Amino acid sequence: MTDGCILVLDEGTTSTRAIVYAADGTALHVCQRELTQHYPQPGWVEHDANEIWERTLACARQVVEQVGGPARIAALGITNQRETVVAWDRQTGEPVTRAIVWQDRRTAPFCAQLRENGHEDAVQALTGLVIDPYFSGTKMRWVLDNVPAARELGDRLAFGTVESWLVWKLTGGLHVSDASNASRTQLLALDGASWDEGLLDLFGVSRAALPEVVDTHGLIGHCDPALLGAAIPISGLAGDQQAATIGQHCLSPGETKATFGTGAFVLTNMGDQLPRSTHRLLGTVLCQEGGRRTYALEGSIFVAGSLIKWLRDELGVIRTASESEELARAVPDNGGVLFVPALAGLGAPHWKPDATGVVAGLTQGTSRAHIVRAAMESLAHQCHDLQEAFAADGAAWKTLRIDGGMSANDWIAQDLADILALPVERPADIETTALGAAMLAGVGVGIHRSLEDAMCMGSARRTFVCGMADAARESRVALWREGLRRHV
Ligand code: G3P
Repeated sequence: MTDGCILVLDEGTTSTRAIVYAADGTALHVCQRELTQHYPQPGWVEHDANEIWERTLACARQVVEQVGGPARIAALGITNQRETVVAWDRQTGEPVTRAIVWQDRRTAPFCAQLRENGHEDAVQALTGLVIDPYFSGTKMRWVLDNVPAARELGDRLAFGTVESWLVWKLTGGLHVSDASNASRTQLLALDGASWDEGLLDLFGVSRAALPEVVDTHGLIGHCDPALLGAAIPISGLAGDQQAATIGQHCLSPGETKATFGTGAFVLTNMGDQLPRSTHRLLGTVLCQEGGRRTYALEGSIFVAGSLIKWLRDELGVIRTASESEELARAVPDNGGVLFVPALAGLGAPHWKPDATGVVAGLTQGTSRAHIVRAAMESLAHQCHDLQEAFAADGAAWKTLRIDGGMSANDWIAQDLADILALPVERPADIETTALGAAMLAGVGVGIHRSLEDAMCMGSARRTFVCGMADAARESRVALWREGLRRHV
């Protein structure tokens, strides 16, 4: 008999982690390994799918051992960087090429062609997604067009997003994708149970290569006992942003979270209402149980934590991530500096895959602190652009729950409250992505009866309230808008 612990594999863009939770949501053990980022050409981002698997398995083994062995684990949940495409041989289980990461822009010309041919409105109406290289469909097509080894495999070729790849490896060949991840491929209609024939034709991807679409929670399969020492049930799968929405307890329509990881992703729970944005936001599946879906409206910002990493590793203007907070506090304002962090194009609501970053307004009086402060301010401004789009789509935010690594930065949390003019709430445990996957997996095996019951997992929140004068906010927003208009 197990005592109800839940193992979560949280496979992000820059690192992979395994966490064991007690049934009450206490994190008992954590193991994390970095992932190698490959940048073979400007705009291209790749991962080694075998490295993802090996490092994830090594982390899982370590925490299972630390907790006292697999007999203590009742369920396994997986949450993952979304949209990233893995292609492998069903017979050997070997990847045929490196995984193409969500940030990768190589399919921009194909996307432009789809838009020029007038497909965008119909694709968005079906999938909730604008046409952009971000999503998996054009990446799969690129593999078929450019990787001879993939084409030559014929029916042996398997495509999947990262949860699909990990389930395949954990189970020894179960080929599934949960509805939340599948909804990011651009090959699934928001209200379609399985892949859409018209979209498969348009993107040129064959159904035979794709996984079966399954619930986000419920019994999905069992791990090969040779891997972790027992046939642990896999009972929760979700894209990391959907999992974070659940981990933030945004279970009622209107509740909204923003996760500041590599990028920043804002999701509002829309209940069972199909999200239809007219302001360049995305409709997406939040979760699915027994085939019944809950939806979310999403705004995706491509550069958040990766901006701080870039300031540290490429520009060298900060030595550590925490120095960014010290520098932002060291000056009273941005000194007229504007920083548009379009290092991977611009996501919602602008959708400019070819946009590049801008630093403007430099003078003799500009210091390193002004530049860092302007970079940090760009996060609140990008969220403010989303706030306006959500409101225009009829989903105005009342509060914003924040999480993810950068949310630990009090300066950023306060700047968000000031620029959004909203209460910003931050849980004591900011790892809500993994917590959400634990909630799903716990419900999936019946440890908790429902996601609402699983809300006993979670921590108290601290609230940041707006303290900025309207005039100060308006001048910041005006500088940002003018910068976007002139430079992007
Ligand atoms: O859609 C991309 C997203 O899932 C990546 O998340 O946590 O790696 O920023 P993260």
